[in-house]
Amino acid sequence: MATPVADIQLPSIPVLLDQSRSERLALLRETAADSWLARNEIGYSVLTYESVMGILRDKRWHSATGLVAQMQGISDDAFLSRRRVSILNAEGEVHVRLRRLVAPAFSPRSADRLRPFMRQTVNELFDAVAHTGKAEIVRDVCEPYPIPIICELLGAPKEDWKLFSRLATDVLRIFGGNLAEEFPLIVAAQQELETYTEGLIADRRSQPADDLITDLIAAEESGDKLNTEELTMMVEAVIVGGTDTTRNQLGLAIALFAEHPEQWEILRNDLSLVPRAVEEVMRFSGAVSGTIRFASEDIEYNGVLFPKGTFMSTSMSTGNFDASVFPTPNVFDITREPVGQPHLSLGAGIHYCLGASLARAELQEAFSVLAERMPNLSLNGVVEYKPTGVGIFGPSSLPVSFSAQ
Ligand code: HEM
Repeated sequence: MATPVADIQLPSIPVLLDQSRSERLALLRETAADSWLARNEIGYSVLTYESVMGILRDKRWHSATGLVAQMQGISDDAFLSRRRVSILNAEGEVHVRLRRLVAPAFSPRSADRLRPFMRQTVNELFDAVAHTGKAEIVRDVCEPYPIPIICELLGAPKEDWKLFSRLATDVLRIFGGNLAEEFPLIVAAQQELETYTEGLIADRRSQPADDLITDLIAAEESGDKLNTEELTMMVEAVIVGGTDTTRNQLGLAIALFAEHPEQWEILRNDLSLVPRAVEEVMRFSGAVSGTIRFASEDIEYNGVLFPKGTFMSTSMSTGNFDASVFPTPNVFDITREPVGQPHLSLGAGIHYCLGASLARAELQEAFSVLAERMPNLSLNGVVEYKPTGVGIFGPSSLPVSFSAQ
């Protein structure tokens, strides 16, 4: 018989705390060495590779990402019900249907269509600093990089990039940890984005193009189609899921390479290693270090009973360092042989990152361009990081130097 989780002696780890990333990771990884499960202030955390996979692949654990607002005291009904229909936190049949309808539009082939545009975007951003031999690479390349790509993906014209960037920034305040104060700004941005997206949808309905909105409008299975509200929700999900993640993951990658110049040299000398390098960067330093679930019913797992409603945080940043899956996990090695089990930084189970092919393509193209154009990459000051805790993690400032061209 399973033991109720409340009756088990467990180590305690804080989910939200004011520590540096390295202190936090050290604490989590030390705890993970002794226990697959720990207690935190909102519920529990699973820490090992197997247990993170176990929870993410078990459909009885539902996404709690849509509850972030409620957990921060937001009770506005219109806002909450609107967020519930997002693919990021839909469950059961609703999620299966959405995913089935939209998945073909996010195939590796669709992502490949954008590769030339991705290269061009990184090259243009880098041109502005190439001759100086110095950059604050977060500001100069990583932050602006995803917006043109998402706009190109959706079919939003160049003159709207600025507007899009502002709306994305405001919508993403949802994860900023300051929701109550920023709530009016977020709601206004969501409304503006909705109106804008409805315009794009109307345009594409009358004039189809080679872009995601046209694909989503056309997406149909057995006579079932996305309605306009679902289409706008998907656009918002793409912005929420696809901008901050990519820019932070690229920033973390460049910080890692600047700290491991020998790995940068290996990459520069053999660009066929780029796909492996992307996977190793995401394993070693993922921008999303965990996600949250709640038990939709009483759940027995690993001999433990988790009552309905239990909150569970799944720790990708410890699962990715599980030595039983990744030998010598503390070594950052882009030549690492694939182990046949994926890292956890793109999630797992039904909510596995919908934009995974796009994210990989964006990072691969950026690595290829930058490896060629930034010989002798090194840090040129202190790397500053965003606060750890909730949301997406990455550097806020990353001064680097390289051989000028
Ligand atoms: C390096 C960049 C990225 C990282 C690290 C990342 C990470 C993740 C993770 C961990 C999840 C699962 C969340 C959960 O289970 O609660 C997820 C889901 C998702 N991602 Fe990404 N992501 C990235 C890029 C993208 C891009 C470029 C897009 C847009 C096209 C995107 C769209 C989504 C969507 C829509 C979901 C929800 C899927 C669902 O619930 O069925 N992501 N992502």
